[in-house]
Amino acid sequence: MRFENKADVLLGLQWGDEGKGKIVDVLTPRYQLVARFQGGPNAGHTLEFENKKFILHTIPSGIFHDGCQNVIGNGVVLDPFIFKQEVESLGIGMPQLKKNLFISGKAHLILPSHRLLDAAYECSRGKQKIGSTLKGIGPAYTDKIARCGMRLAETLSPAFREKYQERKNAHMKLARNLGYNIEELRLEEMDFEAYEAAWFKGLETIWSLTQIESEIFVNQALDDGLKMLAEGAQGTQLDIDFGSYPFVTSSSTIAAGACTGLGLAPSRIGEVYGILKAYCTRVGSGPFPTELFDEEGDRLRNSGNEFGSTTGRPRRCGWLDLPALKYAVMLNGVTKLIMTKVDVLNGMKNFKVCTAYEYGDQRVDYLPSDYDPDKLKPILQTMEGWDCDLKDFKTIQELPAPLQEYLNLIEAHVGLPMEIVSTGPDRTHTLFNQ
Ligand code: GDP
Ligand code: IMO
Ligand code: MG
Repeated sequence: MRFENKADVLLGLQWGDEGKGKIVDVLTPRYQLVARFQGGPNAGHTLEFENKKFILHTIPSGIFHDGCQNVIGNGVVLDPFIFKQEVESLGIGMPQLKKNLFISGKAHLILPSHRLLDAAYECSRGKQKIGSTLKGIGPAYTDKIARCGMRLAETLSPAFREKYQERKNAHMKLARNLGYNIEELRLEEMDFEAYEAAWFKGLETIWSLTQIESEIFVNQALDDGLKMLAEGAQGTQLDIDFGSYPFVTSSSTIAAGACTGLGLAPSRIGEVYGILKAYCTRVGSGPFPTELFDEEGDRLRNSGNEFGSTTGRPRRCGWLDLPALKYAVMLNGVTKLIMTKVDVLNGMKNFKVCTAYEYGDQRVDYLPSDYDPDKLKPILQTMEGWDCDLKDFKTIQELPAPLQEYLNLIEAHVGLPMEIVSTGPDRTHTLFNQ
């Protein structure tokens, strides 16, 4: 069977927070369907327009455009408590949401006791903490893979409460065995019972929306000729297989994840938009070859407002890592490159970019599995900066010469042209390749 109409995919090429939410919002007028395929409320996607700012965690970033249907796919893990809060923060009425937000019955639920377990695991890891967002992502996906998770569709079954209690007891036991004092746990400023009650209220909000068989829904939409964009969360370097394991998230963040997380055949994938920031950031633990520990890192953090959208944690900052970028382009089969936050480099006399690594006495252009971060040094090239505001530029071609040079270097390294350059957080701060 040949598929003429294909779904495009948009995802992050670094460690998350590349500006996916903003770019999905910018591209949505070209699409009639936007779908999330993995992750859950560990994501924080920021959208700014008309002097308003929204942070989305589970809901796709096409939600603010009339005429765009939004799908939460089977690959997503859903927390009813956070979902209800998110719905209430949008300022979109429930009748409207019922019309343009569709949730897969196969999406797995994050139970309150999954969050408890996330905290217990982090606590037990001591110095080897992952730096999880503590939203229960790892334990929810663990249950899914262990075939004892709970899917949204089964919450309406008479057996639901019993299974819920059984999972909760199992999680509590595990947490105690890890030495975690479960009486101490507070979730969202509440004790466990109060949080649990709020979680069940959240489930009622989900029940009032439209549940679907999302794999049938999206394939039918494509058959009907609708244009569809699959929106990734986290970033390629946090992928469960190809990220810096174990300092990763628990899902497939790469383009292949759009196939399993939505029920799309590989031959149904069209363009793959890969987003990179003009420098790198990482939240949580794990290796970060180009990390800056000095005032240059502080400068990037402050100018780029690099504080987590979900947790408020300061993000670690460093120079752009071209070998890691090239690896991500390969894994995802990126066809279109997008760069955000170039304005954060405004006014820097010089800045740097990593072109390869020195590992022991060798020069390498990829990270070997299980490499020793202490033996790895980035090889840095110094770039000339520019000293002007970028807000008045209308196309990529007009940008200042040193910035063009930076773009050329990146394009030559990964073998793709830059399609979009973002020069600010607002929808309007977006330049296209003419
Ligand atoms: P996401 O998780 O990939 O959607 O990214 P986040 O929303 O977590 O983080 C990106 C942050 O950068 C948000 O605060 C955005 O509003 C902001 N942002 C996006 N693009 C740009 C840009 O081009 N310039 C600046 N200065 N900020 C941007
Ligand atoms: P968006 O979609 C940045 C990081 C966490 C931690 C690791 C595992 O906004 O780009 P988890 O909660 O999944 O167990 O955390 O992954 N992480 C993110 N970092 N942006 C995100 O999402 C992230 N989601 C998870 O900080 O290091
Ligand atoms: Mg984010």
